[in-house]
Amino acid sequence: MNHDVLRIQGGTALTGQVSASGSKNAALPILAASILADQPVRIGRVPRLSDVVVMQRLLAELGVSNRWTADGWLELETVALNAVQARYQLVRQMRASFCVLGPLLARRQRAIVSLPGGCNIGPRPVDLHLAGLAQLGAEIRIHRGYVWAQADRLRGARIDLSGRHGSTVTGTANVLSAAVLAQGETWLTGAACEPEIVDLGRFLIALGAQIEGLGTSTLHIRGVEQLGGTSYQVIPDRIEAATLLVAGAITAGRVTVSHMAPKHVHQVLNALDEAGCQLQIDTDRVTLKGPTRPRPLQIVTGPYPAIPTDVQAQLMALCTLADGTSQVCETVFPQRFQHAAELARLGAVVEQQENLATVRGRPTLHGATVQATDLRASAALVLAGLAADGQTTVQKIAHLDRGYEAMDEKLSRLSGHVRRCLDNQPAVNRKLNRASTSDQ
Ligand code: UD1
Repeated sequence: MNHDVLRIQGGTALTGQVSASGSKNAALPILAASILADQPVRIGRVPRLSDVVVMQRLLAELGVSNRWTADGWLELETVALNAVQARYQLVRQMRASFCVLGPLLARRQRAIVSLPGGCNIGPRPVDLHLAGLAQLGAEIRIHRGYVWAQADRLRGARIDLSGRHGSTVTGTANVLSAAVLAQGETWLTGAACEPEIVDLGRFLIALGAQIEGLGTSTLHIRGVEQLGGTSYQVIPDRIEAATLLVAGAITAGRVTVSHMAPKHVHQVLNALDEAGCQLQIDTDRVTLKGPTRPRPLQIVTGPYPAIPTDVQAQLMALCTLADGTSQVCETVFPQRFQHAAELARLGAVVEQQENLATVRGRPTLHGATVQATDLRASAALVLAGLAADGQTTVQKIAHLDRGYEAMDEKLSRLSGHVRRCLDNQPAVNRKLNRASTSDQ
């Protein structure tokens, strides 16, 4: 993990325009699904992130050569079919590595994939992934921390993917990616409706898969014998776009985020509107003017189209400065509140009871040294630091680099005073060292 920190001089209203990068959570399962393709694949708008670097390494180990083109596309091609093992060392760095399980099983008949293990945002089981693949006819056993899966040819089935906390996003990605090469028809109910799953589905269709129902909780898949290649561009990152808009809101600034998909963050925009932001929403951009002081919010996270759990921490940061008491109910990962204790170091008042946090808004936050505990928590701390008086140092910024493409540069472009430094060293303009560990 790199030891960069971000030093933030708070108190400046952010102004200007930045564009959203491509979606991390769409790109990762799409890259994993390139294992299914029999012809070369070109993926556009893949964000340059440490999570993507981990996926590139993993794919290279699995015999999928990959390289960036001069015009910024990622070209992938299967050059060897015999490797089927995703090592713990890589999977522990990034849970989304588990998305290679379905594609390996479907295309290579065998997969040995490390269980992802623990995670900072609460329990992250993979039982639904495994049950779904087993229903497609895979023989699955767990041995010494690895999932061993095999099937000569998967068979279509009726599979219910709903879990206790709703649908599973990467579970849907795994089972969908496997079912496209299964013999016969598969009906997936309780499937995730997230835009990232729709994007994966469109990519698979571009390869030759037959899928109906994308964007709904029931997917109908007709298995095909083989898939070809394609050129495909991933959707904009809705979580990054939302984070940048909250940055405008929390600093009482005026920010335009371009190259985004406003329809994918509809509920977040509603929340920002309720907080008193003025919004101008166009097809592919949003301009936000933040209020002098936000109004309190009632936030309930949930599967799409509800407010994403991945924006909960950032919205909580906004609520810490609200003129009144807000409530944040986390229904997807009930224990995902590590950021609350760090926000408290900046003066925030947050009380937590099970999956409900009560945030008593304060007029100001005060700069301090805080530590990022996970990807979105780190974004929340950066946002709070931008709004706080004085200097905030956010440690363990490698978490941020996992999922945000050049966030510090984008914030600087919006006139935020954000510098990347080596911990305990004077500020230097360092290029990103994007190798880190991850959990989302
Ligand atoms: C994905 C996202 C992550 C986001 C999350 C929820 C990627 C790479 N990551 O994670 O950023 O926060 O969706 O939108 O896309 N569950 C089970 N059994 C399973 C799988 C999940 O019970 O087999 C539960 C989880 O504990 C959780 C809920 O289902 O309570 C949703 O998790 P899931 O959608 O699977 O999250 P990820 O796909 O891991």
